[in-house]
Amino acid sequence: MRLKNKPWAKPLIAENASRITQDDHPFVVQHASHAHLEIGMGKGDFIVGKAALNPHIYFYGIERATTVFAFALKKVLEHELPNVHLLLGDFAKFSLTMAAETFQTIYLNFSDPWPKLRHHKRRLTAIGNLEKITRILQASGVLIMKTDNHDLFAFTLKNLALFPYDIISVQEPYDSLEDGDVATEYERYFRDRGEPIYRLIAKKR
Ligand SMILES: C[S@@+](CC[C@H](N)C(=O)[O-])C[C@H]1O[C@@H](n2cnc3c(N)ncnc32)[C@H](O)[C@@H]1O
Repeated sequence: MRLKNKPWAKPLIAENASRITQDDHPFVVQHASHAHLEIGMGKGDFIVGKAALNPHIYFYGIERATTVFAFALKKVLEHELPNVHLLLGDFAKFSLTMAAETFQTIYLNFSDPWPKLRHHKRRLTAIGNLEKITRILQASGVLIMKTDNHDLFAFTLKNLALFPYDIISVQEPYDSLEDGDVATEYERYFRDRGEPIYRLIAKKR
C-alpha cells in the first residue's frame, strides 16, 4: 500500500518513539507467552480491533510504508491501547533480531500478491520468508492468512506443505467474519464489492 506523504506522519512517529521500534534497532518482545504478530498491518484496523477485543494478548504490527504506518499509529493512540507495539520497517530485517519461537499467532492479511512470476520470491509466503516466519512462530502456534488473491492463496498452501504445519482450516471462500475476527481495510473494500476472500489457518507442529 502506498500513500502520498502526510506532513504530520514523521512528527507523529518521532513524538511516539518510545512506543515504536524502527528497523535499525534490535527488537525485544515483552509478554512473550501471549504475543501475536501481524506482518504488513497497513493502516491498522485489524490490529486495533484485535487488541481492543483481547486486552490479555500483546499485539505487534509491522509495516514498512511510513505514511501507512503513521495512520496505524494514530489509531492505536486514539484507542489508548497499551497492548500494541508497532514496528516500522521491513519484516525480513526485523526477523533477524527476533528470537526463535516468539509468537503464538502470526497474521498475514491481504499481503502484496506480487503477480509477476519473477517477483514471486518477494511474497511474504515465498520459501525464504516462510523460513523466517516458521522460525519465530512457537510450536503449536498458528499462522492465519486472509487474501483476495487466489493465486497467492494456492502458492501459500503449496509452500506450507514444505514446512512442519498441519493445515487446520481452508476457506475458499471465507464468506463472513467469524466471531473474534476483525476486518482489515482491504477486506472491507473487497467484501463491499462482493469479491471472494480466502482464509487458511496452519498450525506449526
Ligand atoms: C496490500 S496491503 C494490506 C494492508 C492490510 N493488511 C489490509 O489488509 O488492509 C500490504 C501491506 O503490507 C506491507 N508490507 C508488505 N511487505 C512487507 C514487509 N516485508 N515488511 C513490512 N511491511 C510489508 C505493505 O507496505 C502494505 O502496506
